[in-house]
Amino acid sequence: MPLAIEQVRRMRGGAQSQLMHCEDGAYYIVKFQNNPQGTRILVNELLGARLGARLGLPIPAAAVVEVRESLVEHTEDLVIQLGRGRARCQPGMQFGSRYPGSPADTVVHDFLPDEQLREVVNLGDFCGMLAFDKWTCNTNGRQAIFFRAKDESRYRAQMIDQGFCFNAGEWNFPDAPLRGLYPRHRVYESVRGIESFEPWLARIESKITEAVLDEVYSEIPPEWLGFDHGAIEKMLEQLLRRRKLVRELIVSAWKSSAQPFPNWG
Ligand SMILES: Nc1ncnc2c1ncn2[C@@H]1O[C@H](COP(=O)(O)OP(=O)(O)OP(=O)(O)O)[C@@H](O)[C@H]1O
Ligand SMILES: [Mg+2]
Repeated sequence: MPLAIEQVRRMRGGAQSQLMHCEDGAYYIVKFQNNPQGTRILVNELLGARLGARLGLPIPAAAVVEVRESLVEHTEDLVIQLGRGRARCQPGMQFGSRYPGSPADTVVHDFLPDEQLREVVNLGDFCGMLAFDKWTCNTNGRQAIFFRAKDESRYRAQMIDQGFCFNAGEWNFPDAPLRGLYPRHRVYESVRGIESFEPWLARIESKITEAVLDEVYSEIPPEWLGFDHGAIEKMLEQLLRRRKLVRELIVSAWKSSAQPFPNWG
């Protein structure tokens, strides 16, 4: 488990995450247990990252990052801004999403202009990610980061922010046609029909088993779950059943007024 040794900077966004340097030499975007979106988003992030990786989706490596009290005490910026006041970031086990390389060498973008977006090396992964977001009922729009790896001239996308999968802290699945789509529909230009999603649908059904869910569940730090293990077990059972629903959910996105797939006839 990586140990945080230094805070680098605050990140934008509702969870008020922090870029942190860890003892293993890597950098992580850390979301704290007492973030304003609730502790369950840490569970969602870890589950999302582990399950996405099983499906071969480009999600940054995820880890449980330890932040010790002494670091919080000595770092003025390790605070959560609340409506009126502020609270110190709670020490202990947090969620970390690995930064690609180091911030000094790699520039990370939240958005790309259309021209460069079309050239992204792994643009097809947005289809896989949509299948994932439909399956997990991500109630936020899909979010990605873009960067150039050392030996590549084109941008690569990684999928970030799984905090609102399973409907954030609700752990229910209020499906709706436009949920989980990437706001720039250009990324779905290659879609010609449901067959564009079939390889991903097949992976969800074959790679996600009860044993896999048990394994990722066992990795969640108990303090993220409080005393309520019933809620997550119920949610995971539903998730297992929902594997068969994804095809239908994608079709209803296609039929929606937003027409997210310009080339699906
Ligand atoms: N693995 C990563 N590598 C580099 N940058 C990252 C990574 N994960 C997140 N970020 C950056 O941190 C920002 C905040 O991350 P994220 O979207 O997960 O947090 P958030 O607080 O849930 O945001 P919001 O609530 O506004 O959607 C992102 O906009 C992105 O720029
Ligand atoms: Mg976000």
